Amino acid sequence: SSRSYHKNVVDHYDKPRNVGSFDKTDPNVGTGLVGAPACGDVMKLQIKVDADGNIVDSCFKTFGCGSAIASSSVATEWIKGKPVEDVMTIKNSDIAKHLSLPPVKLHCSMLAEDAIKAAVKDWKAKQGKGESPKLQAQSAST
Ligand code: FES
Repeated sequence: SSRSYHKNVVDHYDKPRNVGSFDKTDPNVGTGLVGAPACGDVMKLQIKVDADGNIVDSCFKTFGCGSAIASSSVATEWIKGKPVEDVMTIKNSDIAKHLSLPPVKLHCSMLAEDAIKAAVKDWKAKQGKGESPKLQAQSAST
């Protein structure tokens, strides 16, 4: 029925991908920890980035509703294998659309967008510079 969750939500809720934790002191790991003030739900999303600035792995732990868990599961799947710069453009509306989230659940997907950005920001801060890792990789290899 129209009131039941979309199959993508159920799938990512029943079998969330990439649940776990990385060592947050690892210099190649970026950690994003965000909360939704409206409901108190919390999401931690982590990325592992290689020397070329590509996200080679991602995991999450979400203490929240099913939609938030499904959103973080989708987010980790989407960002794996992508350059860090590319994932900054992922919008919560893309995730919400993929999962067919109802309007009242949009803030749950917002957590995932915020968590991705926070994780990239944390990783960048650890690199101690704001410039593109792609440029660094290029200058290092030439
Ligand atoms: Fe708050 Fe879903 S109800 S994150």
